[in-house]
Amino acid sequence: MNATMSLEKTIHYPVMLNQVLSIISPQHGGTFIDCTFGGGGYSQAILKFPGTKVLAIDRDKLTQSSANLLVKRFPKRFDFFQEKFSNLDKIVQQNLNPRAIIFDLGLSSFQLLDSERGFSFESKNFLNMEMGINEHSAYNVINTLDKEYLGNIIKILGEERDGKIIANKIDKYRRKKPIKTSQELASIINDAKKNYNNYKRNPATKTFQAIRIFVNQELTELILGLIKAAKLLSNGGVLIVISFHSLEDRIVKSFFNLYSNLRKNPSRYLPMKENKTSLFKLISKNPLVADVKEIKKNIRSRSAKLRYAIRNNNSFFYPDEFKNKFLNYFKLESGKI
Ligand SMILES: C[S@@+](CC[C@H](N)C(=O)[O-])C[C@H]1O[C@@H](n2cnc3c(N)ncnc32)[C@H](O)[C@@H]1O
Repeated sequence: MNATMSLEKTIHYPVMLNQVLSIISPQHGGTFIDCTFGGGGYSQAILKFPGTKVLAIDRDKLTQSSANLLVKRFPKRFDFFQEKFSNLDKIVQQNLNPRAIIFDLGLSSFQLLDSERGFSFESKNFLNMEMGINEHSAYNVINTLDKEYLGNIIKILGEERDGKIIANKIDKYRRKKPIKTSQELASIINDAKKNYNNYKRNPATKTFQAIRIFVNQELTELILGLIKAAKLLSNGGVLIVISFHSLEDRIVKSFFNLYSNLRKNPSRYLPMKENKTSLFKLISKNPLVADVKEIKKNIRSRSAKLRYAIRNNNSFFYPDEFKNKFLNYFKLESGKI
């Protein structure tokens, strides 16, 4: 399938759009940062309100053509950068004062359906799994990474308890010939897990998630993206994150819990800590989720969790505690091939 064609033809539903709009109130105008432009669903919806400006980012160069359409329609109100959101501070000036910064994580429907990327189990194309601006492809990871390391990636980033068994099977196979396609990889994983046939999902789901996260350094991106977004927002600015799996959600939840007004004292027997640790006002500790109507229309929204918080002052301190808490992900994702 031609990737540009697929971009134009695929039906795209921006997840939880109504909730996002009601949180950011674009009818009052202002500047918004869309860190994950994708098919441009959020950016477009915001730009419908006359007093708004949108600065959008996406690491995928195929999103450029949709972005160009918006640049043409809104030359003074829309700007696009093909960049990773971990580099937010390199694109955006500290004094921009955005009203909201939005992250809608993971893959777009275009990427999922583009068989040339190899994100799906059936793809007979090159094992790629790159979102854009990558250091390595899934092909390199699967065929050259040390077996123990590969097992750890599958176990930790895929939350797959059979990581070691799967890595052994992959290693046995690749010693004979390189694993070239996603279909080949999925079938090796199915074989490794054939004795555990009690699945609701494809047995390769967790391993594919792990490889995709590693190839795109998704957790490192998220951690740095959140920190940089918090630094850019001033008092009253909103940070919104929509995540799709538990690893991402744990990171977002932890960030907001650690640096919000609702942070609990670590122990009731310890003296109350001075609250220098607040960057945000948290409205609710629980995430918002898609309603039944939306899930019916777009099954992907079933696993979406929306968390948001509002900056409650203008000062910023580096959130070391948060970064240190997830240092193991940084180390794992920076593994050299
Ligand atoms: C779920 S889609 C966003 C869909 C979008 N909200 C819409 O309404 O069309 C996620 C997009 O984020 C991009 N993306 C993921 N991680 C990124 C990162 N670290 N930096 C920049 N873009 C990223 C992907 O390339 C993908 O296009």
